[in-house]
Amino acid sequence: MTIPSQPKDPQNPLGDLEEWDDFVKERYPKPAEKESLVGTNPEKTEDQFRNYEAEARDSVREFYRLNHRGQTLDFVRKKRSDYLQLNRREMGIWEAAEFLNTLVDDSDPDTDLSQLEHLLQTSEQIRKDGHPRWFILAGFIHDLGKVLCLFGEPQWAVVGDTFPVGCAYSEKIVFPEYFDGNPDNQNNDLQTALGIYEEGCGLDNVLLSWGHDEYIYHVTKDYLPIEAQYMLRYHSFYPWHREKEYTHLTNAQDEEMLSWVLEFNRYDLYTKSHGAPDVVQLRSFYEELIAEFFPAKLRW
Ligand SMILES: [Fe+2]
Ligand SMILES: [Fe+2]
Repeated sequence: MTIPSQPKDPQNPLGDLEEWDDFVKERYPKPAEKESLVGTNPEKTEDQFRNYEAEARDSVREFYRLNHRGQTLDFVRKKRSDYLQLNRREMGIWEAAEFLNTLVDDSDPDTDLSQLEHLLQTSEQIRKDGHPRWFILAGFIHDLGKVLCLFGEPQWAVVGDTFPVGCAYSEKIVFPEYFDGNPDNQNNDLQTALGIYEEGCGLDNVLLSWGHDEYIYHVTKDYLPIEAQYMLRYHSFYPWHREKEYTHLTNAQDEEMLSWVLEFNRYDLYTKSHGAPDVVQLRSFYEELIAEFFPAKLRW
């Protein structure tokens, strides 16, 4: 009989942040080569969803329990009013990438990529496919918001599929039963389809569960084209971009941008090449790319 191991830190059950990414990858397996994600509505049966959930590791399950319980409307508002002042520190993009790389977790150093390597692997694949420079840059910076962990945030407030707070939870969100533990679930005003929002109000007016997407969007938005802003801000919003939920809240601009978010998602999820990218060799290309779009220091 195996006894599930107790997490060393109850607030951080994942051995490393990629445990969540790996789980998402199992849930959304790579579509056939050349098949576009655009316009697909994954036709999985309820049973298949249950299988993903049943096979989830205890650590992943516990992570989602904490996430669904803790991401209340009030929590999101507090984190936004704190972090979005961007008054913690001033850092350049490369500096932030190196800072993120100091994140120590329990991952296996022989098989797992470092944070910086994941970013470079994503952006290098985008580059190889001949996409514009802003797209490559979006790939390189998309997970820098994970520095929230280094600012003391628990894993459940940094990663995880994001979802709107202040309105009913979609049944397509993974482990929906864990919302039973969320105080907002007892507030009827927050559990209608629209909740605190208006029909077609646009995602810009919707508060998503707090995490690394929203944070990096705010740090970088003034310097990037809108397509890149959407890629950063909504790359973990699987209930929208993969499950096609919450369309009663989106507007025409969101719908137009969805294909870019999906185009980005395939690089984030499915880029796995053999061997880690050569950070030393790639650095000058990225320093130049960063300088093309960003000032030397950004406010975080
Ligand atoms: Fe991410
Ligand atoms: Fe990522």
